[in-house]
Amino acid sequence: MKEIILAPSLLSADFNNLQKDIDMINRSQADWFHLDIMDGVFVPNISFGFPIVKHIKKLATKPLDVHLMIIQPERYIEDWKNVGADILTVHYEACTHLHRTVQQIKSFGMKAGVSLNPHTSVDLLQDILPELDMVLIMSVNPGFGGQSFIKNSFKKIEKLRLMADIINPQLIIQVDGGIDKNNYHEVVKMGANALVAGSAVFGADNPEEMIKTLKSF
Ligand code: DX5
Ligand code: ZN
Repeated sequence: MKEIILAPSLLSADFNNLQKDIDMINRSQADWFHLDIMDGVFVPNISFGFPIVKHIKKLATKPLDVHLMIIQPERYIEDWKNVGADILTVHYEACTHLHRTVQQIKSFGMKAGVSLNPHTSVDLLQDILPELDMVLIMSVNPGFGGQSFIKNSFKKIEKLRLMADIINPQLIIQVDGGIDKNNYHEVVKMGANALVAGSAVFGADNPEEMIKTLKSF
């Protein structure tokens, strides 16, 4: 049995009654809360920011996995720490000085993740990989929940796991976008050990059961 870190994305939760969904995740077998932060510039959508995350932190009993889909994320690293982020992921495409940004994240005691858009090659991570706790492979174009999984992601996961086996065996490989009960098995088989699921969890008749399913390999 392989240990899978499952992080439901609150983007698909019921924002009219967020507490209900947070309680469900607390009760469930999920490992982290995945929080999607969008600025309307890096991605064509705006989600939520500091005040909401601060409130989630008060109710959540599990780590907050914050996925920044924003330009110049280096401007806000300490702010994310202050509102309760435990894992902070920035996009490769949004960081000119990625090495510095990763060090900044780690200096505040958070785990550091780097995310790749579907068109960005895992080869570009060669020199930063030893510094990272996690790589997030986007298997849809970031910005919206409920999109279909891009199949080329399988190859990227496989290649990244081979690279990590040599350079950084502890690396967490997280996959985000279009994950459901039909494809998660293949995603894990290729080398991922962390999954994000939004619509698959919150669109299910029984979200807790779906979480259990997505953790069983
Ligand atoms: C997309 C976000 C995802 C999204 C996943 O930009 O990064 O975390 O919420 O949603 P699903 O699982 O519905 O594709
Ligand atoms: Zn995400």
